[in-house]
Amino acid sequence: MTAAPGGSHVTWRHFLDLCDAGGDDVAAMINDAIDRKAARKGLAKGAVDADAPLAGYVLGLVFEKNSTRTRVSFDMAMRQLGGSVLILDAASSQLGRGESIADTARVLSRMVDGIMLRTDDHAKIEEMARHATVPVINGLTDKSHPCQIVADLLTVIEHGKALPGLELAWFGDGNNVLHSILEAAGLFKFNVRVATPAGYEPDSAFVDMARAGGAIVTLTQDAHAAARGADVLVTDTWISMGQADAAEKKAAMAPYQVDAALMAEAKPDAVFLHCLPAHVGDEVSEEVFEGPQSVVFDEAENRIHAQKSVLLWSFGRIGGY
Ligand code: CP
Ligand code: NVA
Repeated sequence: MTAAPGGSHVTWRHFLDLCDAGGDDVAAMINDAIDRKAARKGLAKGAVDADAPLAGYVLGLVFEKNSTRTRVSFDMAMRQLGGSVLILDAASSQLGRGESIADTARVLSRMVDGIMLRTDDHAKIEEMARHATVPVINGLTDKSHPCQIVADLLTVIEHGKALPGLELAWFGDGNNVLHSILEAAGLFKFNVRVATPAGYEPDSAFVDMARAGGAIVTLTQDAHAAARGADVLVTDTWISMGQADAAEKKAAMAPYQVDAALMAEAKPDAVFLHCLPAHVGDEVSEEVFEGPQSVVFDEAENRIHAQKSVLLWSFGRIGGY
């Protein structure tokens, strides 16, 4: 933690992963998101929250990969908090021509109040954080997607489920989104059944982290066993951004499609989550994606509410100090 921009007593901090905040502060983020969401019910989407907590603040959004939800939700989140954003795509900035992350971090720190980065190698965001003197927020790397999981936890809670003891089942690729789910599992003591083909398991460091926090993590190749009695079923694209679109991988993933038969194994009130974009017919059947247990568009909307909490936490307005 460091003195805030402008020299006020308020602190700021980077949000590279959920563990940067810890369980109490992620819980504070979720509670704040619930309160702010309720308080602005009925307002136009671009209307500013009554307290305009980030009035005058500008967030730089730096994209080295495509995005719809992350881009729009951070923009709308900053507007609703009274601030604004500017967007830098790698292709049209000097970053795309080889300017270093370190120099980019130092320049942006002189010009904007915070930086959100979506990139490939996680080491790049760590480098950005090392050199920035404003908060850096992880908008997805190849390793993790923590902002997504704040929205996912909010969605699960809104659908009436408590986190401790929750049984969450993941199907398909052991990817960045799953890594952040595992990190959350350790913080909130919920259990994760991970069903992947052999060779596509998550990074064992995230499994260890979840277990060290008290979560029960089961790794299996049996999708039906993972779904049995689950409260939440989650999947994601089989081919993440930057990965080769390999027929071999898709063939290995085919038995892990979340379809009606898999949903039928879960609790009757189970919900289906997907961070989107979805490839309906691959990782999820149309029947499930469009079905009554699918809450994917609540989840997408919650990116805005979650992002606001992440921003307020990063600018030292909520959570511990
Ligand atoms: N879920 C998610 O991060 O979506 P985008 O890639 O569209 O930002
Ligand atoms: N795992 C996906 C998530 C997209 C939001 C990817 O990294 O492409």
